[in-house]
Amino acid sequence: MTAGDIMNSYLKIFSLLLCLAFVLVSAGCIGSDSNKDDQTGPSVTASAGNQQEPTRILVVYFSRTGEQYNVGEITEGNTAVVAGMIADKTGADVFEIIPAENRYPRTYDELLEAAQKEQDENARPKYLGKGPDLSDYDTIFIGAPVWWGDWPMIMYTYFENNKDGLAGKTLIPFSTHEGSGLSGFDSKLEAACPKSTVGKGLAVKGTDAQNDQENVKKAVDEWLSGLGFWKPETSDEKMCLNENTWSKTKYMFRKRHGL
Ligand SMILES: Cc1cc2nc3c(=O)[nH]c(=O)nc-3n(C[C@H](O)[C@H](O)[C@H](O)COP(=O)(O)O)c2cc1C
Repeated sequence: MTAGDIMNSYLKIFSLLLCLAFVLVSAGCIGSDSNKDDQTGPSVTASAGNQQEPTRILVVYFSRTGEQYNVGEITEGNTAVVAGMIADKTGADVFEIIPAENRYPRTYDELLEAAQKEQDENARPKYLGKGPDLSDYDTIFIGAPVWWGDWPMIMYTYFENNKDGLAGKTLIPFSTHEGSGLSGFDSKLEAACPKSTVGKGLAVKGTDAQNDQENVKKAVDEWLSGLGFWKPETSDEKMCLNENTWSKTKYMFRKRHGL
């Protein structure tokens, strides 16, 4: 066998090894990120490229049924309607603050009085349950009706009970009202939760929440888009929704900057 024959054999073996390596890499058996994926679960973050991770979202709200200003007897409170729209759009979990005692009368005039008394006494009415573990969430929408120009006192109970859990989170207030708008919900929330970041709030007229839901939904959607919450449209964007890691926000996720 000549030196040329030996060289040819080496070249053939080398080419064969090269082909084999190519086939293995293409099949995803060696190298590449797929190994990393096996260690950390399905790789959705990888397909997100430079996008930020989705946030985990919670909606906390308080709302009343019964007789309400300008809308008569209602079976779903005005704030509850808006809370539902936010949750639908963002895929958020929802926690309703329900008073532990039956302290709020059904009729509007009596409710006005009871709420005024609570405010005068700086009361901290109790609510049912502890509420979700806030370490599971990054963004928390917090909504209530405006009562005498302020958050209902039961909301202060929630802020104080969750002082530590709310620290470091992004809190986004929303109100329903009959003329007072957001009524300083944002600055009052900032004062109650100084370690949180308070985002741009939304005020919805309670009457519209009952009687003009199409337009309220548009306003809610625009507000959410302005905040950076958006609906994934392309297959790449949808792939970012890792059912395992982010099942709670599986239909929507927040992209903090860009797009
Ligand atoms: C006790 C009480 C106090 C209220 N105070 C105000 C107020 O100061 N400013 C305002 O615009 N609306 C006020 N309203 C109207 C409510 O904010 C409005 O009807 C709200 O949409 C009710 O929401 P809900 O159905 O979720 O409880 C008050 C209503 C009640 C019952």
